[in-house]
Amino acid sequence: ADALKIGIAGLGTVGASLVRILQQRRNELAVSCGRTIDVVAVSARDRMRDRGFDMTGMMWFDNPIAMAETADIDVFVELMGGAEGAASDAVRAALNRGLHVVTANKALLARDGVNLAALAEEKGVLLNYEAAVAGGIPVIKALRESLTGNTVSRVYGIMNGTCNYILTKMEKEGLSFEACLKEAQRLGYAEADPAFDIEGNDTAHKLSILTTLAFGSQIAADDIYLEGITNISIEDIHAAAELGYRIKLLGVAQRTETGIEQRVHPTMVPLASVIAQVDGVTNAVAIESDILGELLMVGPGAGGNATASAVLGDIADIAKSRPGAQLVPVLGRPARTLEPYRRAQ
Ligand code: NDP
Ligand code: HSE
Repeated sequence: ADALKIGIAGLGTVGASLVRILQQRRNELAVSCGRTIDVVAVSARDRMRDRGFDMTGMMWFDNPIAMAETADIDVFVELMGGAEGAASDAVRAALNRGLHVVTANKALLARDGVNLAALAEEKGVLLNYEAAVAGGIPVIKALRESLTGNTVSRVYGIMNGTCNYILTKMEKEGLSFEACLKEAQRLGYAEADPAFDIEGNDTAHKLSILTTLAFGSQIAADDIYLEGITNISIEDIHAAAELGYRIKLLGVAQRTETGIEQRVHPTMVPLASVIAQVDGVTNAVAIESDILGELLMVGPGAGGNATASAVLGDIADIAKSRPGAQLVPVLGRPARTLEPYRRAQ
């Protein structure tokens, strides 16, 4: 089968991890997707920066919009960030041109996701965004696919790795808020502007995406009650612990008699609860629905590899999305086989 040709705009924490994984796992991916995945075009701001991978065979674009408009690719992968400007214009250009799009950009989706999804549908292409909420946790797939037919009553959880990392480090290591934030930035967890993390906007962006999927409502990130963790002191954390609680930044969306209530704020959760035990960059998302009951997913919420894993899953879905190609890896082909698969005669 023809290789799937992808172009990646943004080669920072997530983009560089993604390229490294695609290069290192090239053979395994060809087996599990039924075709190779080739990175044929890339774009970032600084062409000279060493990104820890070989760019041979990749066409460089200073301008991601030009890449979306002209590169010979099947999939445009947007890993730059930002609700407006280059990321938004490039994603729109790619969809308008009939390219599939994969993005991790929750700020963009929270602002314009419904319109972008409509554009993708009009053009008959896929817009995949698993990495945009809770990093590597497959919560988008859960809501879009696994829970089909369920009526969701509540979605809540820890959706920002940076904040959970800060709260955990402050409590367990007694470090200052500022020192913990610096470390989260160094580890590649924080947004380019970390105010989005600590003031709660990033959680609100993610919550608004989950709300739309769970309840079918319009995206309304600006309507969410919002309070971040900037006012949480080490004394607050210790006082909560003495009372039998831990402070977590939660996003909560629930069905009420008057509509869908959405809020983001620091919350005292009982020490014995699972959510209270979720430490560091780990995220947790709980979904309550009528047929399944309560589903709780816990896993890495930020960082290069965790996020790239979700982006890769989205790309693989596109690679496998040709008629007849879907069932083979699931039913007939061990995912880790390195030899090319041959159908029984
Ligand atoms: P980084 O800041 O590490 O990387 C951003 C990349 O985009 C850089 O390579 C930068 O170029 C490039 N870039 C920025 N603006 C432009 C532009 N105008 N033209 C071309 N290239 C541009 O971000 P992350 O990798 O951390 O995040 C990427 C996206 O993934 C964001 O939407 C973020 O919210 C999302 N995300 C991040 C997670 C994480 O854990 N980091 C987790 C989940 C989602 P250069 O390198 O030359 O400066
Ligand atoms: N800055 C985000 C976080 C990245 O810390 O959770 C993952 O979306």
